[in-house]
Amino acid sequence: MPVTQEQLDAYWMPFTSNRDFKKDPRIIESANGHYYYDQNGQKIYDLFSGLWTTGVGHCHPKIVEAVQSQVAKLDYSMSFQVSNEKSLELAHRVTGLAPDGFTQCFFTNSGSESVDTALKIALGYHRAKGDASRTRLIGRERGYHGVNFGGMSVGGIIANRKAFSANLIPGVDHIRTTFNLQKNAFSRGMPKWGAHLADDLEGVAALHDGSNIAALIVEPVAGSTGVIPPPPGYLQRLREICDRHGILLIFDEVITAFGRIGSSFAAERFDVKPDIITTAKGLTNGVIPMGAVLVQQHIYDAFMQGPESMVELFHGYTYSGHPVAAAAGLATLDVYKEENIFEQALALEKSFEDLLHTFKGHDKVIDVRNFGLMGAIELAPRTDAPGARGLETHKRAFVEENIVIRNGMDILQFSPFLNSNIDDLAKAFDGVRRVLDSIK
Ligand SMILES: Cc1ncc(COP(=O)(O)O)c(C=O)c1O
Repeated sequence: MPVTQEQLDAYWMPFTSNRDFKKDPRIIESANGHYYYDQNGQKIYDLFSGLWTTGVGHCHPKIVEAVQSQVAKLDYSMSFQVSNEKSLELAHRVTGLAPDGFTQCFFTNSGSESVDTALKIALGYHRAKGDASRTRLIGRERGYHGVNFGGMSVGGIIANRKAFSANLIPGVDHIRTTFNLQKNAFSRGMPKWGAHLADDLEGVAALHDGSNIAALIVEPVAGSTGVIPPPPGYLQRLREICDRHGILLIFDEVITAFGRIGSSFAAERFDVKPDIITTAKGLTNGVIPMGAVLVQQHIYDAFMQGPESMVELFHGYTYSGHPVAAAAGLATLDVYKEENIFEQALALEKSFEDLLHTFKGHDKVIDVRNFGLMGAIELAPRTDAPGARGLETHKRAFVEENIVIRNGMDILQFSPFLNSNIDDLAKAFDGVRRVLDSIK
């Protein structure tokens, strides 16, 4: 059934130019494998694999089956003082996949919730250890940590913060981004310049005294801001400075976990072990909303004191450990393993990089960035209309070329399926090129 104007009018869409969209809606009706289908049955190649979520493709039969059978068996059970088999099994499986030492898994429903949970755990940890002066939180310019107040405050995307600047949580500082067009434009993978920027953390520690800082949160590869990979040695340096000052290091791996950069976790790929890892998206292949926070044993242990009848962490969500989401998560982890998905992603990354970098030299392109299966093409903004060229590229790619890409202002973002076929990718990028050639 075609959507009606009244239906469109009733829906306030997230991160969308609502008025523009509703004049010219792009409606997806179904999906299968690497394609969406619109209401006319038109096949649309999903070059963003959901929203960095759906690495193994849409409607994977194994995940669909797991969800269908779970919902018919146990549709919901609360997770406060009772539990269900699937969430216990998933906690065990996810910690088994995580780097050594990550023995505890706390379930949420989204990346934003994972981030706010992680920040609260970091604060609670220091307090439980009798170090209650450690209250300051450090983020990074251009970081994206979701949209709740904690994540927004440690985040560094101006547009997301601007309207709330008087209401951001107090006690937050930011270190600089490693993004630098002059130094790093068109780097393939990790850019050479910028490891020294980790020393900003020393500066913040000197300013406030490190003993007042609870945690630093960074994305190992910044994603939503338009793919900013770390320079070699940068994450290691952050780890060293955190260790020197007793600051917890949180890796926000909502995008980078579960194969997106060819490994289970970015912590493994970069060989840097944080204290806390936040995840969501690929945990269930995007099929059912779910996130997880993974913590090292010593953090959990710090909370386990006082009377055993006492709740140790006054935090949780109605849908934490939802059995249907957990069933989707378990089936997703099975698919990752049985179909060697992370290995496929790793094998694809060089061809993906080559395809992206064919845009170097295009007259509308000012940078190309990539790491793993995360890619960005940054367009020169139109004078007086920042973001317009990016949005037009997204719309025309959808309508004229039947490809979904995401634009964050003038940065086109690409998140191919972890099991993409390289010929399909090449064809999709031909479509992107035709659009870029013809737009103003
Ligand atoms: C690194 C990171 N953290 C947090 C989030 C927020 O996740 P959600 O949209 O599921 O709340 C995202 C979403 O893209 C993300 O990329």
